[in-house]
Amino acid sequence: MGKKEEFYTFRGYSLQDQETKSLTASMEDYLEMICRLSEQDGFTRTTDLASALNVQPPSVTRMVRRLADSDLVKYERYGMLRLTDKGMELGLSLLARHQALENFLRLIGVEGSVLEDTERMEHNVSETTLKRIIELADFLQQHPDLKEKFERFRSS
Ligand code: FE2
Repeated sequence: MGKKEEFYTFRGYSLQDQETKSLTASMEDYLEMICRLSEQDGFTRTTDLASALNVQPPSVTRMVRRLADSDLVKYERYGMLRLTDKGMELGLSLLARHQALENFLRLIGVEGSVLEDTERMEHNVSETTLKRIIELADFLQQHPDLKEKFERFRSS
């Protein structure tokens, strides 16, 4: 994790605190995925979102409406979805949080359930705990000798 991603994380969280504390876990999932799918073209479509999240189109429509009500997403013609500036900033912080947790789980040797664990943990981790996790991951990455010691300890 570089400084930039951390910046997004904490900026995003303060944004979340002041404006969108009411974001449910499900809204976070959608926003995160919209952000991920928009990375290349700057937008995504409801159909792509539905298949990426394995949900039915009516659920997407319902959720997108909620996100639009919170001024996070703009719903355009032909099922095109575009993040607002606020939605983009928050979405990037959700992506960074996901990435940090996934990265951490892989680093400590979790296998097989990384994605599911990340998805469960990301909605429930406090800002302080996330910060410590990022610090520990950075620390281990910067000290391969210690990472290796830990790996030997684990497998002994
Ligand atoms: Fe996620």
